[in-house]
Amino acid sequence: MINAVITGIGGYVPNEVLTNEDISKLVDTTDEWILTRVGIKERRVLGEGLGTSYMGIQAVNQLIEKTGVNPKEIEAVICATTTSDYPFPTAASIIGYHTGCTNAFTFDVQGACAGFLYALETGANYIRSGHYKKIIVVAGDKMTSITNYTDRTTCPLFGDGCGAVLLEPTTEKIGIMDTLLRTDGSGFSHLHMKAGGSAHPASHESVDNHEHTVYQEGKHVFKYAVSYMADAAAEVVERNGLTNEDVDWVVPHQANLRIIDATAKRLGVSEDKVMVNIQKYGNTSAGTIPLCLWEWEDKLKKGDNLILAAFGAGFTWGSVYLKWGYDGKKA
Ligand code: UT7
Repeated sequence: MINAVITGIGGYVPNEVLTNEDISKLVDTTDEWILTRVGIKERRVLGEGLGTSYMGIQAVNQLIEKTGVNPKEIEAVICATTTSDYPFPTAASIIGYHTGCTNAFTFDVQGACAGFLYALETGANYIRSGHYKKIIVVAGDKMTSITNYTDRTTCPLFGDGCGAVLLEPTTEKIGIMDTLLRTDGSGFSHLHMKAGGSAHPASHESVDNHEHTVYQEGKHVFKYAVSYMADAAAEVVERNGLTNEDVDWVVPHQANLRIIDATAKRLGVSEDKVMVNIQKYGNTSAGTIPLCLWEWEDKLKKGDNLILAAFGAGFTWGSVYLKWGYDGKKA
């Protein structure tokens, strides 16, 4: 029985910080509203002219450096993103080229905020097949490139960042133990980008109407996020015979602190076991979960039971039971 295990992690967030105070100068909002309703204090912004691949390249380069893996031995680079640099080619092709993974095939996975979980399961299945030994899953978004800074209901929410993991085979009982993924396409109307795709290509009108940015009916999405994310995580815990005592870490998508708290409460897991960095980075979409793993790496031990959970546009959502593969931070 071959399992797929994460054997290293890299991450990158841009240096530029956009605070709640900065946002309150753009739209009618306050630091207090954003902090109490969402849990965000500040987020990072990638400069103009740079795409998601820039962050992916930094994250993958760090991963290569920390693990010592030879990039020529990487067989696939899978990038989960909604904000690829260009409609085509993929961000993964750019990341693979600029990180020296030149023997790898590359493709993007578009699972919105649940994208990392979709890509992780995809990569894990290549490893489990026995045909592949080294796969990089990189996930993140330049959400500020699709944010409307005249809309107070969405502009405080998003930030930019990327994480990357190396997947390798093992015969030990560690790694990606179980995955539950779901999609409900009826969620379309509540969370989408109106123009820029084949249905409504860019036009002067679409630009004037801010149709190239996130459209979200927040309250509606919130309701579904709370129940679907918690349900998925609870199902994964239950069907693997785990109790709340067995869960060492909950790694939730960082969209709203209230959604994170609801998920942790549903699992009966205390606050100190829940990874939260939304206050620093906001919602980086596919980037949130790998960025949490990246920041918590030094606290993780081999065999720790992690429950990952995410929810996003589509609606897409899911949960992963991960048994961590190594002790502490890789140099
Ligand atoms: O990651 C992908 C999936 N996305 C999510 O999971 C996001 C889910 N949704 C949410 O996190 C929350 O719904 C939001 C953070 C987007 C909004 O929070 P909320 O508590 O649901 O607020 P609301 O939309 O119900 O609005 C409450 C009030 C409204 O005023 P009235 O109608 O009660 O007078 C809004 O106009 O808050 C007002 N409001 C604001 N006030 C100050 C909305 N945005 C702001 C703002 N500053 N930025």
